[in-house]
Amino acid sequence: MIIAVDGPTASGKGTIAKALAAHYGLPHLDTGLLYRAVGRQVFLDGGDPDDASDALAATSFPDSLLGDPRLRSEDIGGLASRVSVHAVVRQALFDRQRAFATQTGGAVLDGRDIGTVIAPEADAKLFVTASVEARAERRWKEMQERGEPHTLEVIVDDLRRRDERDRNRAEAPLVAAPDAFVLDTSDLGRDEAIAAAIDAVEDALKSQ
Ligand code: DC
Repeated sequence: MIIAVDGPTASGKGTIAKALAAHYGLPHLDTGLLYRAVGRQVFLDGGDPDDASDALAATSFPDSLLGDPRLRSEDIGGLASRVSVHAVVRQALFDRQRAFATQTGGAVLDGRDIGTVIAPEADAKLFVTASVEARAERRWKEMQERGEPHTLEVIVDDLRRRDERDRNRAEAPLVAAPDAFVLDTSDLGRDEAIAAAIDAVEDALKSQ
């Protein structure tokens, strides 16, 4: 069983994907982390994230980089969004994601293009979304906890910029698959969002 969870940044898709993985006893891959590692590696190499060949070179980042807590920062999120526009970068990361999705026993993957590109045959597809305001507020709280001081305004601007880039890129833009269940988490608490996600997966499995 493959479960695809897509959506914009800070929509709650990571939390939902993790909870679904625990609920169904499946392994989980946060595919954004791969793009974040590429963004971080470009920076370490002194390369230009907007240059396709610099970004491609950075896709051979060491696996140890995936455990670096700095990958979660807003700065690296911005770099990840920039390197992710390059078709060669997406292609270089494809096999790894595809192999994870198709492993025996199934998997949960979250990202931007899981239901559209990586695993279009997924058994259940969720597109998790929320208003910019709700997402910014969540991100702001997370950052406060991590001691990354940013104002709410800066976060809203940053989310808008990233949404715009992720939605309008030519390659695998952020868009709900036609057969995805759209889950708006703006007015849902964590547990309510998880319960709604499980219901949606159950419905998708039943209608197969
Ligand atoms: O989900 P995230 O915020 O960690 O993702 C960081 C960036 O990586 C996001 O702005 C776009 C890119 N990304 C992508 O293009 N495709 C994916 N499947 C996952 C992330």
